[in-house]
Amino acid sequence: MNVPTTHTGLEKWVQEMAALCNPDTIKWCDGSDEEWQTLTGLLVDSGTFIRLNPEKRPNSFLARSKPSDVARVEDRTFICFKRPDEAGPTNNWADPAEMKALLLGKFRGSMKGRTMYVIPFCMGPLDSPLAKIGVEISDSPYVVVNMRIMCHMGAKVLRRLEEEYSGALPKQRDGHGQFIPCMHSVGCPLEPGQADSSWPCNDDKYICHFPDTREIWSYGSGYGGNALLGKKCLALRIASNIAREHKWMAEHMLITGLKAPDGHVTYVAAAFPSACGKTNMAMLIPPQEYLDAGWKTSVVGDDIAWLWPHEDGKLHAINPETGFFGVAPGTSYSTNPIAMDSMKENTIFTNVALTDDGDVWWEGMTKEAPAHLIDWTGQDWTPDCGRTSSHANSRFTAPAAQCPTIDPNWQNPDGVPIDAIIFGGRRATTMPLVFQAFNWGHGVYLGATMGSEMTAAAAGTLGKVRRDPMAMLPFCGYNMGAYFGHWLEMRRYLTHLPRFFHVNWFRKNDEGKFLWPGFGENMRVLEWIVRRCKGEAAGHETGIGWIPAFEDFHVAGLEGFTRKNFDECMAFHHAEWKAELVSQSEFFIDLYDSLPKEVLFQRELLTARLS
Ligand code: OXD
Ligand code: MN
Repeated sequence: MNVPTTHTGLEKWVQEMAALCNPDTIKWCDGSDEEWQTLTGLLVDSGTFIRLNPEKRPNSFLARSKPSDVARVEDRTFICFKRPDEAGPTNNWADPAEMKALLLGKFRGSMKGRTMYVIPFCMGPLDSPLAKIGVEISDSPYVVVNMRIMCHMGAKVLRRLEEEYSGALPKQRDGHGQFIPCMHSVGCPLEPGQADSSWPCNDDKYICHFPDTREIWSYGSGYGGNALLGKKCLALRIASNIAREHKWMAEHMLITGLKAPDGHVTYVAAAFPSACGKTNMAMLIPPQEYLDAGWKTSVVGDDIAWLWPHEDGKLHAINPETGFFGVAPGTSYSTNPIAMDSMKENTIFTNVALTDDGDVWWEGMTKEAPAHLIDWTGQDWTPDCGRTSSHANSRFTAPAAQCPTIDPNWQNPDGVPIDAIIFGGRRATTMPLVFQAFNWGHGVYLGATMGSEMTAAAAGTLGKVRRDPMAMLPFCGYNMGAYFGHWLEMRRYLTHLPRFFHVNWFRKNDEGKFLWPGFGENMRVLEWIVRRCKGEAAGHETGIGWIPAFEDFHVAGLEGFTRKNFDECMAFHHAEWKAELVSQSEFFIDLYDSLPKEVLFQRELLTARLS
């Protein structure tokens, strides 16, 4: 084996894993352009990638997965602590020794006939105090090229790790020259002469996290969050455990900068459950009158925020990723031009449709569908065929550096100071457009009780509220009640507290029409939030929190939006809130054993204010 590392700990681990998985060859990834060319060429040859028309979409590719491997598999995701209560009632628990034994069986010989790629990667700017180095071992070249977009990867990370290991650089992370080992196999060994599939995977899937030993083992899937282990597995599930121990926070949040006409940038972090337009909000373009007045928005991140108490007393945040792994359907030049511009080139598309001129298309990209496409399953598609051309969870993997509004500080190792934390969900009723929490404890309560109405995806769930605390339900790597406790405790380490807000872009009237136009117009809500943070905007105190007065809410330029419309967006209905309180309490019953008293007190305070 050619071992290009002086890190003997890493070398030993790679050798052990090679002995276990029995690959044909081992390749240490350097992250270079040549490596990208070689691997994308190899993926084209094997039929996993289709090279898109270089004139339309330079250096970009389309992948089509197996229909059985199209999304994260939450029911196959495990948190392996010694005791089930450490994982808590919202996670699948497995005994670490039993799970490890099972996984060793699965991985034994799993890479036969394949190349084992060793991918050193770093989540966060290399010299950030919060950055974490991982090494993913994978038998999927698709994973390697996606990782190259999604995080710092290759030789520069390996050198950094070696310098820390040798003592040439001060110890900065959890341990001396430590890395987080991330094992990944598609679980599809090849016998000599056996033809490969264009999307190898296994029906038996395991996405396993060992928080005590800081390890990740993922088997059977080649898709997204199951396979790109730096993202949900490391940057949220494992990182939430590290963060709890070291007094910082790993959150499922976008980070965006809002520059006011006076030149001051207010940074906000926001958590929304899936399918609530998180990427759109991260990339929001303000209405024309805001642009004319000198407002400007910028993107720091669209999915994950790592936040820590900085020595200046404020909460600072970095985005640990360097790419966007965004949902394609619904993304267009009218809904999100910034995302569209970010994926003009050097982008990997997965499970979208192919146009006759070698470009990509998906539902919602243009008003009219092309007359003919090849759909995500490789079949001919016409607008009247009765199927969608792209999978609902089809994705683009695009470099964040290509985002036209990327924030100048997005790679600042010191992060950006966060002035507001915003929670939101998709709620047709009950929740007003915006309100502000009274204080940190109340803000944590808003995050803990966050929820979204379910779509019709599962029978009988339409309209029911799924509680998704801080949008972390599938991503919190330990007991959710203890996680609330950690949030409450973090207040102690800050001298300048961010303000908390709850927003709802999705409220409807009795006829089922949205009360608020959303998209760029959400800037009007963000402006009130910015001015509240600066102490410039008034608010009305109500039982649920502070709300804007109509006079203090900028509606000029919003065609036909009257005080009556505003009042409808902000209305409070007693019966709805009574039902809301009951539903919040039901959610707490499952978490009761570990729920901090303060959360229950917050509920009592809310009940008292509403009665
Ligand atoms: C994502 C998710 O893919 O939250 O970002 O599921
Ligand atoms: Mn996400």
